[in-house]
Amino acid sequence: MSDIGLIGLGTMGSALALNIAEKGFKISVFNRTTSVVDRFITEAGPLAAQITGTKTLADFVQSLTAPRAIILMVPAGDAVDGQIAALAPLIGPDDLIIDAGNANFHDTNRRMRDMKTPFLGIGVSGGEEGARHGPAIMGGGPRLHWDRVAHILSAIAAQYQGSPCADWMGEEGAGHFVKAVHNGIEYADMQLIAETYGLMRDGLGWDAPRIAQTFAGWNTGVLQSYLIEISGKVAATVDAASGKPLLDVILDAAGQKGTGRWTAIEAQHLGAPIPVIEAAVVARNISARTDERAHLQALFGAGPTAIADLPISVMEQALICGKILCYDQGFRMMQAASQDFGWNLQAPAIARVWREGCIIRSAMLDDMASAFTQDAQRALMAAPFFAGKIKDSHMALRRVVATAALHGIAVPAHAAALSYFDAMRTARGTANMIQGQRDFFGLHGFARLDDGSTGNHGPWAAG
Ligand code: 6PG
Repeated sequence: MSDIGLIGLGTMGSALALNIAEKGFKISVFNRTTSVVDRFITEAGPLAAQITGTKTLADFVQSLTAPRAIILMVPAGDAVDGQIAALAPLIGPDDLIIDAGNANFHDTNRRMRDMKTPFLGIGVSGGEEGARHGPAIMGGGPRLHWDRVAHILSAIAAQYQGSPCADWMGEEGAGHFVKAVHNGIEYADMQLIAETYGLMRDGLGWDAPRIAQTFAGWNTGVLQSYLIEISGKVAATVDAASGKPLLDVILDAAGQKGTGRWTAIEAQHLGAPIPVIEAAVVARNISARTDERAHLQALFGAGPTAIADLPISVMEQALICGKILCYDQGFRMMQAASQDFGWNLQAPAIARVWREGCIIRSAMLDDMASAFTQDAQRALMAAPFFAGKIKDSHMALRRVVATAALHGIAVPAHAAALSYFDAMRTARGTANMIQGQRDFFGLHGFARLDDGSTGNHGPWAAG
């Protein structure tokens, strides 16, 4: 009998199943296309001894020790509902289904509400490599269900200095929500790096090997992270067919499965400001409009012009500043959700889980975990360590945004980070004008600064 089961032997499911087997657990697997099961077992090598391949859902369920735990690794959406419906008549009242895909947390909330049997939604990050050798795992749902499988999930997760990057985030869809915010930050981090690449390529005229070298250098400093590391590797790769840098032959249109977009949409519902993440989603949308961009370049003339001088250290500092501000936004959004949904999300635990295994893992996340451990409620940008970093780097961010603007190079995420910083640290903003306008055309009322009274109106109607 197996300790756990997994349905869905796609790339991520197969990798996760092998990881579970390797950590000493017995696992049963099932896949709708059953030939995939045979191939998987054959390719599992010595790990096959830990794995039971099954050809029917009934056999799969029967091969598991009760009360059962079943991981679903099927595409998010209808496929998950279909799989749950197919399992329902076969499982017992205590059997636990765990959706480990990139589900929309609203779907997870709904499933948890509607299902008669135990259910968990877990966010799994780290791509295929992470799933195989140690992902970051963000759990959501009733704590007692998490506790049933925590030993398995902790064993297969990435480890940061001996502690597993797997934790329970909160009730309902909290795990999938935190994973969506992770992906929003992933989009923003990637966009900030891509913009820096654009400054180097289009402004400074650097070739891919030089860019690769610069990223590799940054990866030994404050910016040390998986995404900087792989950006350097991507830039260093030569295309076998053309002999050119591979980057130069890749179409500049970014795909997206939707998690970053969900984060942006949810942020609007929550009233949480996440402009860097939103800018990254918009940038992907614009990137997909390749024909239109080519047409408009012809209409308006050549785009970027050469930058005479933009030191590497300035671009590096700007990236550091943008990155901190983007995380500040992501964590604020989670605080807002925590209040709205009553989840009690723990910022220190989230930062700790993200230190290893996931796509956004970086040296800075350990500093974030420390900052939130000192004060979980304080905004990241106000934490002494990060406030110091922002004070040191915001002039560099200013210089990058201004230089890019003057040379026709789009840096939407950098610009969003800078405006966010300037807006957030301005005590007297400009929304008094908005309130005046709203009252003028709609008598919406305004509060007075001098006596604190609300519901005041201007003399406009009289005029
Ligand atoms: C992860 C990633 C992963 C995501 C891909 C593709 O944490 O392992 O976030 O879950 O699906 O990176 O995402 P997009 O297609 O939206 O870029």
